[in-house]
Amino acid sequence: MARERILIVDDEPSLGELLTMLLEREGYVTSRAESAEEGLEQFDALAPDLVLTDLNLPGIDGIELLRQVKTRSAQRGRDVPVVLLTAYGSVATAVLAMREGAFDYVAKPFHNDELRHIVKKALALRALEADNARMRVALGERYQLGQFVGTSPRMQEVYTLVRRIMGTRISCLICGESGTGKELLARAVHYGSERSRAAFVAVNCGAIPENLFESELFGYKKGAFTGAQRDKTGLFEAADGGTLFLDEVGEMPLASQVKVLRALAEKKVTPVGATAEVPVDVRIVAATNRELRAEVAAGRFREDLYYRLNVVQIDMPPLRERAEDVPMLVQHFVERFGDEYKKPMGGVTPEAMRMLRAYPFPGNVRELQNIVERAVALEPGSLVTPSSLPERVQGALAASPAPAEEEEHEEALEGLDLEARLAEVERGYLVRALAASGGNRTQAARLLGITFRSLRYRLVKFGMDEDDDGAT
Ligand SMILES: Nc1ncnc2c1ncn2[C@@H]1O[C@H](COP(=O)(O)OP(=O)(O)OP(=O)(O)O)[C@@H](O)[C@H]1O
Ligand SMILES: [Mg+2]
Repeated sequence: MARERILIVDDEPSLGELLTMLLEREGYVTSRAESAEEGLEQFDALAPDLVLTDLNLPGIDGIELLRQVKTRSAQRGRDVPVVLLTAYGSVATAVLAMREGAFDYVAKPFHNDELRHIVKKALALRALEADNARMRVALGERYQLGQFVGTSPRMQEVYTLVRRIMGTRISCLICGESGTGKELLARAVHYGSERSRAAFVAVNCGAIPENLFESELFGYKKGAFTGAQRDKTGLFEAADGGTLFLDEVGEMPLASQVKVLRALAEKKVTPVGATAEVPVDVRIVAATNRELRAEVAAGRFREDLYYRLNVVQIDMPPLRERAEDVPMLVQHFVERFGDEYKKPMGGVTPEAMRMLRAYPFPGNVRELQNIVERAVALEPGSLVTPSSLPERVQGALAASPAPAEEEEHEEALEGLDLEARLAEVERGYLVRALAASGGNRTQAARLLGITFRSLRYRLVKFGMDEDDDGAT
């Protein structure tokens, strides 16, 4: 770890020297200023981790220095603790300073140990807060991506891309067929980011009539038109500090596209009937199931808006192109709906699973989810059987018969090779946990509720131990 930097502000040279010596001996990097003015200059230049200042200084005093340090560090998004040195007799002022945000104060003359202790505590607390902030982001990310089931290479690509843009405010365009998880992904992008404390506002661009678009998105002032009885906040403003999800963005009327583009470019909106603009800070995530580039070519979508939205494009693969995810998704929804319907479900019979695997799912994950929900509701027993699947799914096998060899092979396995099946399940979970933790094994082990050692053992067992990420 890099050594922590401490800025010492004191107009008494002998004391300054003593403090420097004391703190350097503790392994800190120090710099010294003899006035608050000089101290602020150094603060900007050196970005210290802690400021230790005398209260009584020539010119700007210690309290004012404290205020400035607090404002400047707030602007940078990282708090810098300030510890005050006070002469006996001005302790009352020091107590007052605590209310202004000082971490603590030390009365002069002080014990070296006392000073060391307070400095150490202030820095430890600061490190902890920074860790917590990082952890919140990491947890949000893990949790949100953790809602995604599927370990196919196509989905791995999606996770990798999302993880890369999650902490940024880059606009992204999510493309994919209906039911592939576009909205789920948009939420993951929001809740995994530092914006998660502000709102996620979803707008279905296809559902708002053209003449209401402006007032819905930008709001209006009382009296702006007949029926405007009071001020109304628009969706842009509602998403301030957070994420605005423009769903079905390809359906947005051309006239509205101009206005949205302007709002994005200027980061301001003008409510209908208002004279002043309102600044807004939103991250835009858009989704479409249309070929948006073709819409641009056909003149139905503005090219400039297309480029503004499409800084990063995420393609959600249709389920039929990642059939290997089907068993895991089925299992996931069987468990989920089993819980919801209070029916302890064991799973799916091999025949029913073969049908599901053969079915092309034109409605993607949403269709799979609906099919499983219906089956769980209908099924009298604890396994989903072919008879509780819709006819179209039952017919899928006949339409595209599995190669005879494979079928025989599976028949032969049925009920016989429990170990192999368990191993398959186990391996699936390992892959899933590693995907969710971005390859971090310590986190993956925690996700699975097993020890790191046990995870390691299983990775070796499945020959998945090739790359050591050093998390030993
Ligand atoms: N990989 C996945 N794992 C688990 N659940 C998923 C996954 N993908 C989608 N879902 C679920 O499937 C349903 C449909 O997803 P979502 O609404 O995000 O799709 P969409 O692409 O926005 O669809 P549409 O274009 O029809 O609006 C949701 O209930 C979602 O939670
Ligand atoms: Mg959707």
